[in-house]
Order: sequence, then C-alpha cells, then structure tokens
Amino acid sequence: MTIQTFRTIQEMRTQVAAWKATGLRVGLVPTMGNMHEGHIALVSAALDQCDRVITTIFVNPTQFGANEDLDSYPKTEKSDSAKVATAGGHAMFIPSASEMYPAGFSTRVIVDGLTDCLCGIARPGHMDGVSQVVTKLLNQAHADVAFFGEKDWQQLAVIKRLARDLDIETEIRGVPTVRDEYGLALSSRNGYLNDEEIEIARKLNVILKKTAYDIAAGGFATDECMKAAKALMKSGFSHVDYVECRDADTLEMIDKAEGRSCRIFAAAHVGRARLIDNHLVN
Ligand code: PAF
Repeated sequence: MTIQTFRTIQEMRTQVAAWKATGLRVGLVPTMGNMHEGHIALVSAALDQCDRVITTIFVNPTQFGANEDLDSYPKTEKSDSAKVATAGGHAMFIPSASEMYPAGFSTRVIVDGLTDCLCGIARPGHMDGVSQVVTKLLNQAHADVAFFGEKDWQQLAVIKRLARDLDIETEIRGVPTVRDEYGLALSSRNGYLNDEEIEIARKLNVILKKTAYDIAAGGFATDECMKAAKALMKSGFSHVDYVECRDADTLEMIDKAEGRSCRIFAAAHVGRARLIDNHLVN
C-alpha cells in the first residue's frame, strides 16, 4: 500500500491548502516513528474526526538529553508508513533535520510552570525541545486538529498551553493510553526490555492504579506516593524518578484529592528503559 509522503514543509503546506480549499478537515498526528498500537490509535482517532490525516515522523534531537537514546532510537520509516497506510492514514510528513532546523536556527519555546516539574526535572530541556518542535509542526501543517497520547500527560498539558498562549488555531486533542493485556502502557521504549524486565514494567500500572484508588479514598497523596515509590523499587525497578499526585490541568502538586480533578504520575527505570505512566484519581 502506498501513502503520500512529504519531505518538505512546502509540499505539506500546498497539499493542506488544497484539501482545506475543498472544505476538508485536516488532522495531524505528530510522532517520532517506531509505531505501535498506541500511535495507530492516534491515527484512528484522527480518522474518526477528520477527512484527511497527516502523520509526522521526526526524531527530534532537541528533546533528547546528552546521555539519552537519540542515536539508538529505532528508525523504522518504511514499516511505520506501511502501518499508517493500513490504518487508513492519507499522508506522512518525514522531514530531515536540516528541513526542521536550518543553519542559524535559534528560537526556543519555553512554557513556564508546567515544565518545571515531573519530566521537566528528571529530563532537563526535554519539555523545551518538545515545545519547540511541536510549535513548528503545528505552524507548518496548519491542521484543524492535532492528536497526542494521554500517556505523556505532561507533554499534552504543555502543548495545550503553548497552543493557547501562542494563538495557534489547531485544536489539541488527547487520546487515551493504549495498554497491553496486563495494563502496561504501550511505548516504543518497551522494545528495549527482555521478558523479565517486561514483567517488572507491568507492575507500574498496577501500583499506580492502587495508589490512585487509595488517594481517592482519602489518603494523603505524599504518603501514598512514597509507598508507591517503595513498591516500585521492591518490584524490581532500578530507579524511580518520581511518583506524584498533581492537578490534571495546572500540574500543581496536590495532597488531598477532595473532589479535584487530579492524576497520579510516575517515571521509573527498568533495564535500559525509562517508563512513564499516569492515572486518573477518582
Ligand atoms: O510524543 C512524541 O512522540 C514526541 O514527543 C512528539 C510529540 C512527536 C514531539 O517530538
């Protein structure tokens, strides 16, 4: 199955303008490739709500730290395009690094507040890199709606805020996390794990769900989160970056749920992978 592929911003813009001129609604699904069912769920959500869907693949160097997995991040463009085509996607945007960041590029996008907690602390600069590349992708595509996974809840909150603050017209929508049969959130980084590590990884969701339940039942979030971090270490995670309960929109730390819309967030390391997940507290 073939799928239209844009390599330049101009090619994509020309096609989007032509679609829009005939009244078609355009959806955008930004990804870094290495597609799994979670990405395909984004494409499917976009297809449900839009007439034409563009999926982007760009392994954005500015959101990786010096000791992170940029160089080893799987590049699977051909199979990714085939998966998107099979799902019914209409086009791919696969720019080069120089198309995205030409010589002399010097602009940063920093969303204060929402980025100085959770992954913003554990991965310095990561959220700024995400804000930068997503701002560019939204401006490049001029889509009506863009779709992002709820597994990266902080990323979604940051993107919603930057789109609002910078008057970007594209509507930002979250899509529920896709999980395996044991509740493990699908992630490209699960591919780094062996069988034993996968078993450990599957405990993350179980422990977070129990913690969310205990906080909703009236427990103090700081106590429950501390217990969760200990339980994760006991289950075999080698390091826990954070387990925290925060407001779902502002990401302010919360100690008592008391009817507020809050979520429990965690990031923990097993084998070569750093896994993140979050759950509603209700
Ligand atoms: O979630 C991702 O895959 C990336 O952070 C994104 C949004 C495509 C930006 O590079």
